[in-house]
Amino acid sequence: MTTYLITGGSGFIGSNFIRYLLNKDPDSTVINLDKLTYAGNQENLRDIENDSRYHFVYGDICDESVVNEIFVTQKPDIVINFAAESHVDRSIGKPDDFIKTDVFGVFVLLEASKKYGVDFFIQISTDEVYGSIDKGYFQETDQLMPSSPYSATKAGGERLAFSYFVTYNLPVIITRASNNFGPYQYPEKLIPLFITNALENKFLPLYGDGKNVRDWLFVEDHCEAILYLIRKGTIGETYNIGSGNEMQNIEITNLILEYLKKPSSLIKPVKDRLGHDRRYALDCTKLHSLGWRSAVNFNKGMRTTIEWYKSNEEWWEKIKSGEFLDFYKSHYKLSYTS
Ligand code: NAD
Ligand code: TYD
Repeated sequence: MTTYLITGGSGFIGSNFIRYLLNKDPDSTVINLDKLTYAGNQENLRDIENDSRYHFVYGDICDESVVNEIFVTQKPDIVINFAAESHVDRSIGKPDDFIKTDVFGVFVLLEASKKYGVDFFIQISTDEVYGSIDKGYFQETDQLMPSSPYSATKAGGERLAFSYFVTYNLPVIITRASNNFGPYQYPEKLIPLFITNALENKFLPLYGDGKNVRDWLFVEDHCEAILYLIRKGTIGETYNIGSGNEMQNIEITNLILEYLKKPSSLIKPVKDRLGHDRRYALDCTKLHSLGWRSAVNFNKGMRTTIEWYKSNEEWWEKIKSGEFLDFYKSHYKLSYTS
């Protein structure tokens, strides 16, 4: 019987992970600590909220008292920190909460883990900490050159976690995954924004020349890789998690429009994102050598994702008519209108 403290479990990857974990490991108990920011959504785990193995705690990872109380009362064996401010565009507009959650929040979790003891502390980082690479692939030993406030704070958070391994022997593992896609992703990120805009016959705002490249990882593959690393990873190590599905944004856009039989006239080239990283690409030899490889083919993952958004209009319509709308109004006013 393992007790997991999952932070940010009401967001995109966290909610997929909790569902995945409870299916794969029936003996696990999950405490989900989530602040329910604009990106946290209790609808994401509606299907398991009455599962006796699942417990939701409403709170902030920066709040030492809430975090310590969980450690005292629940005694988690494994901490997996998904909680973060995660959207680059928001970090460009207002980095404040990124600095709090993505750095200070990690510190609070590390301190509690050190004080009360854990078997594993998994810090979910990102491939964005490396910055952009025109050719070739980043290895775990490459220097970090984060270029957005988001990626810079993620780099700060993960290096702090590493320091707790070196200094205090805390059993830390750091993961750096590439761009995820799949069900329950907040529709501000490229793929869900473009699918839902296309379904609503709205414009798809493509930044710059649309040729920026990302390596797209289906969220379930990411979840599987994290669990795999808890079994096979080495404490103190950092692991890239990618799929090798490199795509230009324009290719993704065309694929979505073709699948939904929508016209390419919906594509609206807009001013580029500030400091826009051109390409992310990971060398995943280290993880592959442990025996793990992504299993979900990109086209199959995209079909699953598009069909999910088609069948769950109520989920995203509610989001897109709320806070999302305020963000987009100011986002476009500030950056993308002449
Ligand atoms: P998300 O924005 O969908 O969800 C973040 C969750 O964290 C939300 O539920 C939110 O309420 C919660 N949260 C935010 N601040 C909090 C705080 N102070 N205390 C408690 N909870 C808080 O993000 P996501 O896309 O699911 O990403 C999860 C993690 O994976 C993040 O750490 C992100 O950096 C990392 N990551 C994401 C991707 C990706 O493509 N989405 C790729 C690599 C790594
Ligand atoms: P995003 O999903 O925000 O992920 P990240 O910036 O963390 O990689 O964006 C993915 C790519 O899509 C990135 O190159 C920016 C681009 N993009 C657009 O062209 N238009 C949009 O409206 C958004 C949100 C992103």
